[in-house]
Amino acid sequence: MRIRSHDPEWEGPRADLEVAASAPKGNYRAAVVGCGRMGSTIDDEHVGKPHYPWPWAHAPAIQEARNVELVAGVDFDQRRLAYFGERWGVKALYTDLREMVAKEKPDIVCVTTGPVERAEAVVGLAEAGVKAIYATKPMCRTPAEADEMIEVCRRTGTILAIAAHLNWYAPYTNAKALIDSGELGQLRSMVCQSPLPLSNIHSHTLCLFSLFVGAPAKWVQGHMDDPEAAKTNEDQSGSGMIGYENGVLGFLNSHVPWRTWTMEFNCERGRVFTRNHHAWFELWGRGEQELDGEFQRQFPFPWRPRSSMTDAIEGVARSIEAGVEESCPGEFGREALEIGIAIRESFHSGARMNLPLQDRNLRLGGY
Ligand SMILES: NC(=O)c1ccc[n+]([C@@H]2O[C@H](COP(=O)([O-])OP(=O)(O)OC[C@H]3O[C@@H](n4cnc5c(N)ncnc54)[C@H](O)[C@@H]3O)[C@@H](O)[C@H]2O)c1
Repeated sequence: MRIRSHDPEWEGPRADLEVAASAPKGNYRAAVVGCGRMGSTIDDEHVGKPHYPWPWAHAPAIQEARNVELVAGVDFDQRRLAYFGERWGVKALYTDLREMVAKEKPDIVCVTTGPVERAEAVVGLAEAGVKAIYATKPMCRTPAEADEMIEVCRRTGTILAIAAHLNWYAPYTNAKALIDSGELGQLRSMVCQSPLPLSNIHSHTLCLFSLFVGAPAKWVQGHMDDPEAAKTNEDQSGSGMIGYENGVLGFLNSHVPWRTWTMEFNCERGRVFTRNHHAWFELWGRGEQELDGEFQRQFPFPWRPRSSMTDAIEGVARSIEAGVEESCPGEFGREALEIGIAIRESFHSGARMNLPLQDRNLRLGGY
C-alpha cells in the first residue's frame, strides 16, 4: 500500500515541522526606540498598494513575529509615544532609552530614529547591555560613525543587524539559495536600475548586493545626476560601477524612469530579474547550444509569502541563538554608505575610489 502524508508511517517532508523549525527557539522581549513612521505607522501609507507584504513598521512586525513580544516604546515626543502605546497596547513608555533598558530588560531593540540620532542610540543600547539591535537604514551619516557602532557592538557582544529588510525577504533569499546552489553557474554581475537616492534607498540595494556577492567591495567609479547638488552632503541620486573582491561587478543605473526600481542578478547560465519595487520575480535560464537563447523558468517563490520585516525580527532572534548576524550585519550597512559616498567622490575626482574610504569623516545624507 502506498504511504501518503496522512498516514502515521509517512517519512517524507513535514510542512508543520518545516514551519516550526524557522521560528526562534527561545522567547524574546523587544522594544522600539523611535515611535514615528518606521517604528509604528508606515503601513498606513501602503494600504491598497500591492507591491510588498506588510507589516513594514517595526512594532507590528514584532507583534507578528513568533516568540517575540513587544514590551516597550521610547520617543522624545510624548504625543507620538502616547499614540504608540495606545495603538500597540504597550504600557511601558519612556523618553530615555537607557532607562527603558534598565527597567524593561529587552533582548532586541529596534532603532527607528532618524539617521542623525542612530549612532548615539546604537552605542547607548549596546553599552546598556541589550543582546541585539535591529537598526533601520541608512545605518548612519559617516563611515566613522559606522566604525564606532560596529566596534562597540563587537566589544559588548551585541548582535548588530541593519534593517535593510529586503535581505530577509523570502523571494530574495530563495533566489540567493538558488544561485548559491551553483545551478545557474557563477554570479557575474548585479544590476540595479533606479533613480532613488544613494544613501536612503540604495542602502537596501547595496545591502542586498553585499548579501548576494559574499565578498567586500574594493573600488567604485561614479557619476552624479546633479553636479550642483553633488557639491553638498545631501542624499541624492547617482550611478556607479562597483568592483567586488571576487570579480563580481555591481551596477547602479539612475538614468531610468522616475521612481522605478528593478534588479538583475546575472550568472553564467541564467539570471534573476526583480521588477516593480520587488513586486515580481523572474528566473531565466540559458540553453546549452549557441542558438538556444534564454528561456523562462519557474521562479522559486516562497512556501509562505510573509512580511520581510516579520521574518527579519525572527531572524534577529535566531541570530542571538547563533551568536552571529549573517543576513545584514553592520558591515553591510557600512559598505552601503561607503559606496554611496565613493560614487560622489569619484564623480568629483574623475577617478576610481578604493574602499574602505580613507577619509572616515566624509558624509552622505542624514540631516
Ligand atoms: N523601508 C524602510 O526600511 C524604511 C521606510 C521608511 C523610513 N525608514 C527609515 O526610518 C528612519 C526614521 O524615519 P521615519 O520616517 O520613521 O521618521 P519619524 O520622524 O517619523 O520617526 C523618528 C522618531 O524617532 C524619534 N527619536 C529620534 N531620536 C530619538 C532618541 N534618541 N530616542 C527616542 N526617540 C528618538 C523622533 O522623535 C521620531 O518620533 C529613517 O532613517 C528612514 O530612512 C526606513
